[in-house]
Amino acid sequence: MNIILVGFMGSGKSAVGHKLAEKLCLSYLDTDQLIEEAAGLSIKQIFAQKGEQVFRDLETEVLQKLQGSDGHVIATGGGMVLRRENVELLRKLGPLVLLWAGPEVIFQRIKGQTHRPLLNVPDPLVEIKKILAGRKAVYDKVADLKVDTSKLNVAQAAERIEQWLASK
Ligand code: S3P
Repeated sequence: MNIILVGFMGSGKSAVGHKLAEKLCLSYLDTDQLIEEAAGLSIKQIFAQKGEQVFRDLETEVLQKLQGSDGHVIATGGGMVLRRENVELLRKLGPLVLLWAGPEVIFQRIKGQTHRPLLNVPDPLVEIKKILAGRKAVYDKVADLKVDTSKLNVAQAAERIEQWLASK
């Protein structure tokens, strides 16, 4: 079994993913991390040196390589589900759990961080609102379960996912 975490930057995929992996005795994988290891470059460097398109291709490549693997909580980059092909590849790996939070909450969580190229702009809150508005329909559509992390702490969010898995 795998569990896939999808959702916007700062929605809690990494924190909740680690917690969930620990609770379910699964290993934690992060597609951004796998891309960085394979490329020998940080996400920031990939965007700066090769461009977003190359990064998006690397996301698909990583999902192709993960096919057939088992026993992971897989946290994905916030833009992963924008490609239909990626959603199909993710579905073969496991259920898609959407972590969700509103723009202000996201902004509070990510401000001061500099490793996300899309949010390294003069007004990150405006950018968050804009990108989120463009992605919301896709996130909602692909989600098998939605968890609003703005009202839950990490342990509660992981618990919610665990309960849902047990009820399936
Ligand atoms: C992105 C999200 C990032 C990373 C890249 C692009 C996006 O991952 O994949 O900076 O398009 O939303 P996190 O969601 O883990 O921050």
